[in-house]
Amino acid sequence: MVKASAPGKLMLFGEHAVVYGKPCIVTAVDHRISASIEERKDKKIIINAPDVGIKNCEIDLNENLENQPKEVRFVFQAIKNFFDKYGISSGLEVTTKSEFSSRLGFGSSSAVTVATLKALSELFSIKMSNKEMFDLGYKTVLDVQGVGSGFDVAAAVYGETIYFRNKGEVIEKLKIDSLPLVVGYTGIKADTPTLVKNLAKKRELYKLIIDRIFEKIETIVENAKIFFSEKHFPALGEMMNFNHGLLNALGVSCKELEILVHTARSVGAYGAKLSGAGGGDCMIALVPEEKKEDVEKVINKYGKVIPAKVNAEGVRIENE
Ligand code: MEV
Repeated sequence: MVKASAPGKLMLFGEHAVVYGKPCIVTAVDHRISASIEERKDKKIIINAPDVGIKNCEIDLNENLENQPKEVRFVFQAIKNFFDKYGISSGLEVTTKSEFSSRLGFGSSSAVTVATLKALSELFSIKMSNKEMFDLGYKTVLDVQGVGSGFDVAAAVYGETIYFRNKGEVIEKLKIDSLPLVVGYTGIKADTPTLVKNLAKKRELYKLIIDRIFEKIETIVENAKIFFSEKHFPALGEMMNFNHGLLNALGVSCKELEILVHTARSVGAYGAKLSGAGGGDCMIALVPEEKKEDVEKVINKYGKVIPAKVNAEGVRIENE
């Protein structure tokens, strides 16, 4: 049996604009998803995903994706794409396990896709570079959900903190030793594909305005990249505030996110913003050490602090 794990992610800067070829900065978090895979003697492919209530689910790769239970679609498509690419056919027993809820917006779909690909490549002794794993993982995510920039797949493969642009044309590691972040969960599950599609519709109506906002977000990401290298946290906080304001202008924030962002700022965060698609999920606040407790307190009042370490390792084989 082979077990591989991949990290979840937190978007630091550049969400939504990254779908339109602009850059973003994303960090991998220490909440991981694992895929354990072994070959079966028969031709059956059986999936177990106890965290999402899937027990002994038999899949047939010749069937349509749409006929599969939602909870197994990424694993189904990852196996299908891997077998197609490398001309393999085999029975499999797959078990996935997650250290975090898929409701947080930490990128569980991309992490489970990448963990599955890594376990398969190890099981069938196929060498895949990070870029090859990214490309197949990104194709899998697009096959299943139709939209997405691929930044979350890159975070799952490469880990740490990366500057990402244009469907993975540029993937650059940023050197970051520490990042004093507090993560706050709104309690609301956001629907990323719907938020992305709604913004695309809005862009058809207001293209000039929305493209200008994306350009401004790009400037913020480029500035943030420099401030990261200088460890200039007050300026990074300011970049977060600018970025959040523009996301609000795009219409992807919500009352619960606004409350967490504004209360975090009011008790001394350098800056705060929503993280990810918006509409719920999580926000992040960059905080001076001496204000951390105050910020956590207000976030726990209106939402929930999610303990998370940034800069986590990318996909890896787990030796039992
Ligand atoms: C969602 O976490 C981030 C978005 O930019 C979508 C994507 O990049 O795939 C909204």
